[in-house]
Amino acid sequence: MGDFKLRHNRIGVLTSGGDCAGLNAAIRAITYRAIQEYGLSVIGILASTAGLLERPVRYRELTMETVGSGYLREGGTVLETVNKGNPFAYPMPDGTIKDRSNEAIEGFRALNLDALIGIGGDGSARILAQLADKGDIPFIGVPKTIDNDLAETDFAIGYMSAVEVAVEAADRLQPTAASHRRTMILEVMGRDVGWIALSSGIGSGADVVLIPEIPFDMDKVCAHLRGLHARGANHALVVCSEGVKLSSGETVSHAFADGEVRYGGVGAAIADIIARETGSETRVTVLGHIQRGGSPCAFDRILATSLGSHAVDLVKRGQTHRYVVMKDGKAGDVPLDQVAGKTRGLKLDGQLVQTARRVGICLGD
Ligand code: F6P
Repeated sequence: MGDFKLRHNRIGVLTSGGDCAGLNAAIRAITYRAIQEYGLSVIGILASTAGLLERPVRYRELTMETVGSGYLREGGTVLETVNKGNPFAYPMPDGTIKDRSNEAIEGFRALNLDALIGIGGDGSARILAQLADKGDIPFIGVPKTIDNDLAETDFAIGYMSAVEVAVEAADRLQPTAASHRRTMILEVMGRDVGWIALSSGIGSGADVVLIPEIPFDMDKVCAHLRGLHARGANHALVVCSEGVKLSSGETVSHAFADGEVRYGGVGAAIADIIARETGSETRVTVLGHIQRGGSPCAFDRILATSLGSHAVDLVKRGQTHRYVVMKDGKAGDVPLDQVAGKTRGLKLDGQLVQTARRVGICLGD
């Protein structure tokens, strides 16, 4: 897709995929820049593609009065979001799968919008790019996910806020661990990448961090913990990512009633092995969605403001099928297909892994 021209001076914005802290800050920046700088109207599409499938389409106009500075602080997304119900393979109530992409495109057209800004992760970028291709919709993506696994951007909105929550949790676990001579296992989110686990492990002084990118050996983990005890440590902290594989090669997940399979519970399996092999009493905390809720940290507010306002500049310039990124401290953009459906794990020779090793964190390898 090439360039396009604004005809109605109206743009749409939606949030898609799992929520995270900082989405409202991005919505605020988009609205602010579009109205104040370019005199555009901004339509917030509610509940992502699900809103486009409803009749009438669910939306609300975003104005300078609605997006006050409170949006910088507010968790979640005022536009609601969905992380299921792909319009190209929509699960119908009777159990069948239907392509409803034409309905979503018609829904978008009904709003008379020049372009769409979608704040979402890799999966959302893929689906929205497909929809934009099919419906000839000028589209710009803005990166968000606590997992921080998006290609091309150093940071995605929501990641640092999740790390802050995990660090605070670990800080609270360590004194109680020390009081009872226990080993605490903190299971954090991140799907198939270990960004939250490793960053929070470094930030909280964890003894062991287990991440999906590094296959680990529980014998080595237990030997490391025994060594700590032998040197006089009266407690230990293990941070593990929800998507790590056990030595059997299996991840731990749970099939929910809606048919989706989600990670969760690997911390308990790790705790059992540690208790058995080291004799240490263990306790497990699964942090879960607490990492996604709450007020964004300052970094995410600033990131969301930079990326959101850059997205509007691209729309105004008539550029489409781009994805906004933060690279080397600067907001920029790349072709959408470099990001859509792609993920980025931790590099073994990258800064975070190296830093963890430098301060003696055991990664189980
Ligand atoms: O991708 C973001 C994420 O929060 C993952 O870290 C986690 O595994 C998943 O979403 C949880 O999704 P849901 O909101 O469907 O429980």
